[in-house]
Amino acid sequence: MEPMYRHSSDYHFLGYRENGFTVRWGKTLPENPIRAPWPELADISVSNRCSKGCDFCYRDSRPDGALMSLQDYEFVLDSLTSPLWGTPFQIALGGGEPLEHPQILDILDATRRRGIVVNFTTNGLALDASLATALKGRVGAIALSVAALSEYDGARVRLLSSRGVRAHLHFLLDQNSLGEAVEIACGKHDGLLQDLSGVVFLTRKPQGRSSLEGLLRFEDPRLNEFLDAVASTYSRIPLGFDACAVPLLLHHGRIDPQTIDACECGFFSVYIDENLEVRPCSFSKSGQNGWNLRDVDFGTIWEERFADYRSRQSADLCSRSCPGRAHCRGKCPLFPEISFCYQS
Ligand SMILES: C[S@@+](CC[C@H](N)C(=O)[O-])C[C@H]1O[C@@H](n2cnc3c(N)ncnc32)[C@H](O)[C@@H]1O
Repeated sequence: MEPMYRHSSDYHFLGYRENGFTVRWGKTLPENPIRAPWPELADISVSNRCSKGCDFCYRDSRPDGALMSLQDYEFVLDSLTSPLWGTPFQIALGGGEPLEHPQILDILDATRRRGIVVNFTTNGLALDASLATALKGRVGAIALSVAALSEYDGARVRLLSSRGVRAHLHFLLDQNSLGEAVEIACGKHDGLLQDLSGVVFLTRKPQGRSSLEGLLRFEDPRLNEFLDAVASTYSRIPLGFDACAVPLLLHHGRIDPQTIDACECGFFSVYIDENLEVRPCSFSKSGQNGWNLRDVDFGTIWEERFADYRSRQSADLCSRSCPGRAHCRGKCPLFPEISFCYQS
């Protein structure tokens, strides 16, 4: 399969479709470009429909939530196709629950037909042998979400891995799950998790149905224990984090900053919801730095409308000394409650 190349004078990108491996560089190899001229990744919510009813769901998804039609999805893909830059390298589908979308397989096929790597995140409840067979060759990878290890279903993961479909775990991180997160980072569950290609820890944010109660706390001694274990790479399973954890990881000081990318939302990636609203990130509220694709073309949103957001995000607001200072873009403006390195 041909890799995706994208080159300009100060931005270079190379993406391998068969394994999702990507590299980018700036004017010279050691330089990092500030942003991409066209998104590398689009995070698309194909519905806000989900029957699982998690009490922490930041999207407040419900069994009768809205669906994006296949026609609208194709329109989104057309909008994301630039005559100059082509398409994003990959699309991450979310929701809602993608597997509750009646046309999910058509959505995957429409994406692949355009040469885009498509991944999705799911609660996994609808996953059975026939669906796992249908997913083979259709996706780059699938993320299964859990809020505790008791929800982890190794048999479901094997349905995927035995068919050559790569599966990660999205592990929600809060006070309730931090003890298990320490164990995962220490390698205690490597056997249980052996069929996964990685575990990504998602810091719980106070949005939608999630209250402030039970969020991670900087003073919790287990947090340092967890970061120490991550830095020591005890677990054989590759571990990752969502972008909101970056200031915390960099501030910790023992995790190699070369392995950490600052938040890419609105700089290298974009979010589009089921109503076709384009925002830098899935956590920004509707109307907050959001423009609808029915009103404004994507190129204008990416080039012009995101400009203010980017300059605010790039402003150097951090006043603390920190080993990761040079690599950090600072706290997430959306969730001061979990931007720990800003607390004195
Ligand atoms: C909203 S779900 C939608 C996709 C799919 N239904 C799933 O379960 O993966 C996407 C991801 O967001 C995570 N999530 C839900 N509520 C969250 C919150 N309050 N803070 C951080 N992540 C959250 C879920 O655990 C899941 O991994």
